[in-house]
Amino acid sequence: MRSTPTVSLGEPFEITDNRIQTLYLQSSCFPQAVPEGHDVVEGLEQYPKVLPPKYFYDDRGSQLFEQICELPEYYPTRTEAWILHHYAPEIAQLTGSCELIELGSGSSTKTRLLLNAYQSYGYPLSYQPIDVSAGMLRESATQLLIDYPTLKVKAVVGTYEQALISLPRATISPRMLLFLGSTLGNLTPLQCDQFFTQVTTALDAGDYVLLGIDLQKDRAILEAAYNDSQGVTADFNLNMLRHLNYRYGGNFNLEFFHHQAIYNPVDCQIEMYLHCHQAQSVELKTINLNITLAQGEGIRTEISRKFNLQQMQQYLQTHGLSPLQIWTDPKQWFGVILCRR
Ligand code: SAH
Ligand code: AVI
Repeated sequence: MRSTPTVSLGEPFEITDNRIQTLYLQSSCFPQAVPEGHDVVEGLEQYPKVLPPKYFYDDRGSQLFEQICELPEYYPTRTEAWILHHYAPEIAQLTGSCELIELGSGSSTKTRLLLNAYQSYGYPLSYQPIDVSAGMLRESATQLLIDYPTLKVKAVVGTYEQALISLPRATISPRMLLFLGSTLGNLTPLQCDQFFTQVTTALDAGDYVLLGIDLQKDRAILEAAYNDSQGVTADFNLNMLRHLNYRYGGNFNLEFFHHQAIYNPVDCQIEMYLHCHQAQSVELKTINLNITLAQGEGIRTEISRKFNLQQMQQYLQTHGLSPLQIWTDPKQWFGVILCRR
């Protein structure tokens, strides 16, 4: 059974133009929601300490992520863009007209390749970007409205979980849920199972999912992608503490931490840490949290899992998603899978 929040969602609800609606989902609107910042408390009270990757993305973090996408070492963005550039028309032909819904849409740059393809078939353009990063969402949606004069946008500020619980049912055409950039890889296997359970509950039979995943490859290539020579990934990682300081009245001293990213070949994942090289006590006032960090202790801020295409197809099937087609690049570094619910 699909659970629908009983209270009205998204106060304030803003209609800024007749082609755009912006909906702000707030945790207080969800009956079973945990209090704001609870995930930070839980993560920092456990050992080893972890923090949820969604806290990378304040305005500054979203800008830093955009810079990462341009780095010579960070191959995922341009490789997925290559795939979409070549195969978006085929994707549009396979699905026919549909409403695009994107989880973790960010700048929506690669989404434009899909919008172009749907537009060239003469399909009506309807797009629902969903992201926790309100500034980036607003900026990219505004630019999309200018660049696609017939596009209708419903921008949703919120988490994947909040958005999937409150996703309205399809009206006219089927929907295609986009989850690009291998953002799936930032979920643990358990979170991934919960995520797909929510996805299949939210979608109707006949709806589509388009999933972009980073594939397993040589360790040196992977580690270089997360330890770039310009130090942008290190800034992005450290920015999470700056964000937490601002958001929860914290006093992390950023100078006591350094970035580390290593590949774990057993779990096939890059693991990003903030290593504390000087012991410190930290308080996050507004969420009543006091912790101590020992010298040499690390906080894991992100995992980035690297997948196998065959295994992923079987996994999707166990969640009621039938793979229809897969596309990859000449080096088989990245994969895009279209499935149907
Ligand atoms: N899809 C884009 C951006 C990927 S970066 C691309 O492929 O380039 C990941 C995006 O997901 C960021 O914009 C971030 O703000 C968003 N995000 C991260 N965790 C999220 C969560 N739990 N719920 C909603 N959005 C999230
Ligand atoms: C958003 N996500 C898929 C990126 C990744 O590669 O896991 C985030 C990132 N972290 C460091 N560099 C990029």
